[in-house]
Amino acid sequence: MKSSLRAKRTLKAKAKEIAKQLLAADNVHIVSHIDADGITAGSIAYCALKRAGVDRGIEFVKQLEKETIRRLRDSDHDLIWFTDLGSGQLKELKGLRCIITDHHEPQSELKKFDRGNILSYGNSGLYELNPHRYGIDGAKELSGAGVTYLVAKELGENFDLAPLAIVGAVGDLQARGERKLLGVNRKILDEGIEKGYIKKDIDTSLYGIESRPLPKLLEYANDPILPGLTGDYSACVNFLVEHDIPLKENDEWRTWCDLNKSEKRRILSEIADKLLSTGFPPSYTHSLIGEVYTFPNEKPKTMLHEAKEFSTLLNSCGRYEKGDIGLNICLGKREKSLDKAYELLRGHRKVLVDSLKVVESEGIHEEGVLQYFHGKDRIPETVLGTVAGMVIGSGEVDTDVPIFAFAFSEDEGKVKVSSRGTKFQVESGLDLSQVMSECSEKLGGEGGGHDIAAGAFIPKGEEEKFLKMAKNMVRKQMR
Ligand code: C5P
Ligand code: C5P
Ligand code: ZN
Repeated sequence: MKSSLRAKRTLKAKAKEIAKQLLAADNVHIVSHIDADGITAGSIAYCALKRAGVDRGIEFVKQLEKETIRRLRDSDHDLIWFTDLGSGQLKELKGLRCIITDHHEPQSELKKFDRGNILSYGNSGLYELNPHRYGIDGAKELSGAGVTYLVAKELGENFDLAPLAIVGAVGDLQARGERKLLGVNRKILDEGIEKGYIKKDIDTSLYGIESRPLPKLLEYANDPILPGLTGDYSACVNFLVEHDIPLKENDEWRTWCDLNKSEKRRILSEIADKLLSTGFPPSYTHSLIGEVYTFPNEKPKTMLHEAKEFSTLLNSCGRYEKGDIGLNICLGKREKSLDKAYELLRGHRKVLVDSLKVVESEGIHEEGVLQYFHGKDRIPETVLGTVAGMVIGSGEVDTDVPIFAFAFSEDEGKVKVSSRGTKFQVESGLDLSQVMSECSEKLGGEGGGHDIAAGAFIPKGEEEKFLKMAKNMVRKQMR
C-alpha cells in the first residue's frame, strides 16, 4: 500500500515536471500510435495543449521507426511529445528534445535505468513518464492514454478527458484479465466516476451491448464462444424468442442495454447452463460477466457510449491511416467524422473476417513451445496483432503456448511479426517484449511491446531464423 502511494506521488511529480516543459514550449508536435490507445493518448495530449494555449500539431504512426525519428530530428518543432510509444526507442531518441508518455517496456539495456537516471543516460532533453519505471505494470495497470492523462491533469482542469483514458486502457485489453481495470487505471476510473464523466456497472462482458441488435450480440460472441449460438443467426433468434425476449421495440432492434434485469439474468443463466453442459469448466462462465464502463455524456445506444465499442471505432480509423478521424471523434467534432468512422468500421470488420479465413486456410503450425501462422500478403500488417489475439482468444487453438504471426509489410523487404500470449503464460515467465526486441535486433530489425503482446519488423526471408531464436528464448523463459 505504502509503496503504491509513493509510486503515485512520484508519477505525479514527474507529470508536473513534464507539464512545465510543455507549457514553456513554443510549439509541440505530438507523435502517437495508430491504435485506440494511441489515438486516445494523442487526443488527450492535443486537447490539453489546446486548452493550455500551446501551439500544437499531431501525427499518427504505426510504429516509431528509425526513419521517422530521423525526420523528426530534422524538423523545426520546438518540442516533440511521443504518446503511447517512445520507451522502446530510447537509444534512437538520444539527443532529441522530447517528452515520452508511454507504457511499453523500455528497451532491455535501458530497463535498469531508474526514473532519475534516465536523464543521465546522456539525453538531458528527454523526459519520460512510464509506469514500468515506478514498479507499475504497463501491460495491466496503466495504458498509453492513461499515462498521458496524468500529464494532462497537470496542464489544467482536464477531468473530462478521463473517459478517453478509459477507452485507451480498454482498447489495449487491460481490463480483460480480471474483467475490470486495475492499478492506476482504476484510480483514473474512480476519479472519472466521482466527477460524473464515467459510470461503472457489473454486466455482461459480451461485446456490443449498446449498438448490436440482440441476435447479433449472440451470433458474433467470441469471448467466450457460445455453444450452439455463436455463428448461427437463426439459432440466436430462436433462443431469444424461446425465452420470451422481445427482439424489437417500436420497430427498432433492441440491444442489450434495453433489457431489464430479469431479461438479462434469464439470458445469462441459460448461456451459462449451455456452457456447463457442453463441458466447459465453471471458470469459463465467469468470463460472461465483468465491469462495463459507460459515458453519461455520450448518446446511449451508440458505440461512443461504452468503452469497448468506442475503442473498436477508433481502431477502425487508425489502422487504416485515418487517425485524424479518430482524433476528431475524441475531440467531440463528430459531424462528418462519425459517418466516416462507421464506414471504416464496416471495412475493418470485413478485413478481420477475411483474415481469420486466411488463418484457417493456411493453418497454424505447432512447433512445441510456440505456434505460428504466416499471412503473407493476405493479412494487412496493421491488423496482424488483432488477428493473432483473436485466434489465441478463440479457445480453438493451444492456449499453453504463445502464438506468433507473420505478414508481409507494406515497407518493401520487411515482414511484420506479432505475438500474443495469455495471462497464465506470462505468470509462467513468458515475456514477448523481450523475445521480440532481442530476436528482431539480431536480424537487423526492430521490435518490442509488452510481456503479453509484442510486435516487430524483420527483413523478409528471415522468418525461419527468427522462429528458431524465438523458440529458444520462449523455452528458457517458460522453463
Ligand atoms: O501498442 P499498445 O500498447 O497500445 O498495444 C497493446 C497491445 O497488447 C494491444 O494490441 C492489445 O490487444 C494487446 N494485449 C493483449 N492482451 C492483453 C493486454 C494487451 O493482447 N491482456
Ligand atoms: O503490432 P502488434 O499489435 O503486434 O503490437 C503489439 C504491441 O507491441 C503493441 O503494444 C505495439 O505497440 C508493440 N510494438 C512495439 N514495437 C514494434 C512493434 C510493436 O513496441 N516494433
Ligand atoms: Zn498502448
